[in-house]
Amino acid sequence: MAPKRVLLIVTGGIAAYKALELVRLLKRQGIAVRAVMTQSATEFVTPLSMGVMTEDQVYGDMFDLKEESEIGHINLSRQADLIVICPATANILAKMAAGIADDLATTILLATDKPVLAVPAMNVRMWNHPATQRNLKQLREDGISIMDPDEGAMACGEFGPGRLPEPPDVAARICTMLGQPFDTALTSGRSPTTIPKAFEAQPDFAVGTHRPLFGKRVLVTAGPTYEAIDPVRYIANRSSGRQGFAIAQAAAEMGAEVTLVAGPVHLVTPPGVIRIDVESAMEMQAEVENALPADVAILVAAVADWRAADVPEQKIKKDGNGIPPLTLTENPDILASLALHKLRPKLLIGFAAETEKIVEHATAKLAKKGCDWIVANDVSGDVMGGDNNAFHVVTKDGVESWPDSPKDVIARRLMERIADEFA
Ligand code: CTP
Repeated sequence: MAPKRVLLIVTGGIAAYKALELVRLLKRQGIAVRAVMTQSATEFVTPLSMGVMTEDQVYGDMFDLKEESEIGHINLSRQADLIVICPATANILAKMAAGIADDLATTILLATDKPVLAVPAMNVRMWNHPATQRNLKQLREDGISIMDPDEGAMACGEFGPGRLPEPPDVAARICTMLGQPFDTALTSGRSPTTIPKAFEAQPDFAVGTHRPLFGKRVLVTAGPTYEAIDPVRYIANRSSGRQGFAIAQAAAEMGAEVTLVAGPVHLVTPPGVIRIDVESAMEMQAEVENALPADVAILVAAVADWRAADVPEQKIKKDGNGIPPLTLTENPDILASLALHKLRPKLLIGFAAETEKIVEHATAKLAKKGCDWIVANDVSGDVMGGDNNAFHVVTKDGVESWPDSPKDVIARRLMERIADEFA
């Protein structure tokens, strides 16, 4: 059976980045996705990122003659089984309700005879405004399906309805509308890695001086691990995964083939990165070994040191016999075991979170773990989940101290240092 096809229209809201995750989820369900972005959507997400996810050209400007003659807005809608607007801003809903067609997205929406699903996301006051509610009523009468937004804290600091529903919920709704089951087992795992032809000329993806890590395989771990206590409870830590994701992104931008083994985090997969989602330390260790061989491994994950010794199949109940004991057992040390692995990466880098005697502790850790570098992270301030990191790179040859910088700047600098090592 031919795969179902979704034409995804992305409009300009803070939730536009979640459209990338939606594309990944839909593709894993075997659904083909083609994307149209409005001009303001490109302020939030680049067409390059979207193109990497859809593995296709991204459409934007109706007056681009080449695009129009090759495909045309009528064809874009004809080739789709369903049109999805995600996120749908108050602005596009208003234009749709009024029948305005002043760009490619709105022209498609006015001309199409295909079913349309709108997934609104906006500030709570905009959502509650009588004009928006009037437009929504009109659109429902016109036969447009509308997903209710989630309620909760918003990026703008307010609280209420208006948040974009979580991408798996949107993907499930799309599957229902396409008449195919939604397989939740397919929501995690690898994202597309092929870079579409149209983007090969982009500086970040061009072969040459911009890609000092071209041909290198880089393995990164990121995020926390969750260690189950019973089917509903777990032990975790506050790692956001952002530093590891930034490192994976910097490595991919510099041309490396990157595998990112990620603990449970709410972060978008960087373009071009192979992401493998795991929960526990045991799963992380298995996926790290699966990802070998690698030239460089950078283990940024905050792996839980312990897990529950026994995990019952059923939820532990309050049975009146007092507090149940929680017996812990040690998790494998992924970094130390990689150092002894027969496929040990040529450059093995560990991270260490320290609050005092940073270099002293990091130097001891370098020896204990058998790795080549320890990147020691000063966590005496607000680092876990914060924007900045200050690093000391401890190698067998000495210590380099880098100033407090945003996590993406630090990531780029670390990858440049690694590229120098290989040069
Ligand atoms: N690490 C690992 N597997 C573990 C624990 C840690 O691979 N089970 C890795 C981390 O990804 C990181 C480094 O080892 O690269 C951190 O070492 P760790 O000994 O956990 O250091 P800290 O978290 O700083 O803990 P402590 O100071 O308590 O030793």
